[in-house]
Amino acid sequence: MSTVRLLLSCLLFKLVIALSGNFWHITDLHWDPSYKLTDNPELVCASSGRRPAANAGKFGDYACDSPWLLINSSVYAMKEILPDPDFIVWTGDDTPHVPNEDLGEEKVVNIISNLTHIINQVFPNTKVYSALGNHDYHPKSQLPAGPNYIYERTAEMWQDWLDPESQKTFKKGGFYTEKLLNRAGFRMLVLNTNLYYDQNKLTRNTIDPAGQFIWMDRVLTQAAIDKEKVYIIGHVPPGFFEKKRGKPWFMPEFNSLYLHLIQKHHSVILGQFFGHHHTDSFRMFYSSEGSPIGTMFLSPGVTPWKTTLPGVVDGANNPGIRLFEYDTQTLLVKDVVTYYMNLTYANAVQGLWEKEYRLTESFRVADASPASMHQALQRIATDRCYLQKYYEFNSVSYDLSECDRGCRADHVCAAREVDFDRYERCLEREGAAAVYGGMLPLLSVAASLLLANR
Ligand SMILES: *[C@@H]1O[C@H](CO)[C@@H](O)[C@H](O)[C@H]1NC(C)=O
Ligand SMILES: *[C@@H]1O[C@H](CO)[C@@H](O)[C@H](O)[C@H]1NC(C)=O
Ligand SMILES: *[C@@H]1O[C@H](CO)[C@@H](O)[C@H](O)[C@H]1NC(C)=O
Ligand SMILES: [Zn+2]
Ligand SMILES: [Zn+2]
Repeated sequence: MSTVRLLLSCLLFKLVIALSGNFWHITDLHWDPSYKLTDNPELVCASSGRRPAANAGKFGDYACDSPWLLINSSVYAMKEILPDPDFIVWTGDDTPHVPNEDLGEEKVVNIISNLTHIINQVFPNTKVYSALGNHDYHPKSQLPAGPNYIYERTAEMWQDWLDPESQKTFKKGGFYTEKLLNRAGFRMLVLNTNLYYDQNKLTRNTIDPAGQFIWMDRVLTQAAIDKEKVYIIGHVPPGFFEKKRGKPWFMPEFNSLYLHLIQKHHSVILGQFFGHHHTDSFRMFYSSEGSPIGTMFLSPGVTPWKTTLPGVVDGANNPGIRLFEYDTQTLLVKDVVTYYMNLTYANAVQGLWEKEYRLTESFRVADASPASMHQALQRIATDRCYLQKYYEFNSVSYDLSECDRGCRADHVCAAREVDFDRYERCLEREGAAAVYGGMLPLLSVAASLLLANR
């Protein structure tokens, strides 16, 4: 090869590299300060609620929220794998799953402060976009639609990460928007979707809590005028929990409004990044003509805590952290790499974070665009091998059991339909209600109906 050609190809290579950026997404760290190794498995951690922590080790137990060592290990793993990301997305839930009586405003604030501190300490020069989770409040999930002590204190803690204008809106409603990395043409929108959570008694019968929908509509409208590309982050996602049939999080009217806003503004929204599930999944958004217009990525949690949600069998996960690769010119999400700690192995041998999978490799898609994610979903829906792969990744390689027909319907319909009615119809279409053999699914539908009425 001639020198000129070599030079040219090197330049081209450099250009391609320059167009590609990375950011970390971490979520649901749920630190349990009570975690300790003792002889009585019921007393290892408060968050087990007296379920025995049978395999407790220094990195944690599947019945418990994270010990500090796991938190520390996850943040340092990010530093070791990719020390200089463009930014970090952190989508909340810092406190343990314990009764309100065992927490309090001060304890919640202190836990948020410890986690803020370690992220700040390990990544002192990295911009962090941070959203509140439903567990980042006392009493849990009761996040108000107006100013309060916890928004105030958190805004102060996050002052390095928030512009002055963001400070203001955050203190009022727990949400904010900024230019992404201060660059013209790019924007980050940080939502407080805890206001739409059906467990939130304070906002249940209100129209537009904290005026966040109107604000979001305005920001996205202006973004289109300014030719900006936008990422949206938040904690509680719209749509359904893929591990429990018929289990949504948002109040119905808030779910519709959110979906409506995404459909209206999809051309400027290049990605949505949420947590709360602790599992690895995604949600598709379609136009009224049925073409894929958006994807919400649900990143796995750091806590391995086995959910106590009735109807979910063995809902634990391995700790996961996630790297997104994106096009710095268009904000197109190019790839998603999930890293995890096999908790059993970590406790027995050594605390090791390894690559679990790369999206484009595992699902044979070109990138993580809505069209590609739609293609991945079609593969999952129609090919048992892809379904099984997706299913194992869903619990971060914790639950390796077979995903049967009912399981497929639950996961596929949750990923495909954020809208409540369309989700129900999807389940019918997938034959989940009728054709599906055995009594268990019927029982679980009956159980969720009963629970929903409580
Ligand atoms: C946190 O992890 C780092 C890197 O593994 C280690 O050097 C440090 O001692 C750990 N800190 C604690 C408190 O465990
Ligand atoms: C949490 O923060 C408090 C107050 O700054 C500090 O005393 C304590 O050592 C921190 N705990 C951990 C585990 O970092
Ligand atoms: C996790 O580690 C345990 C213990 O070494 C091992 O039996 C299990 O197969 C591992 N799981 C995965 C998904 O590699
Ligand atoms: Zn959580
Ligand atoms: Zn949550």
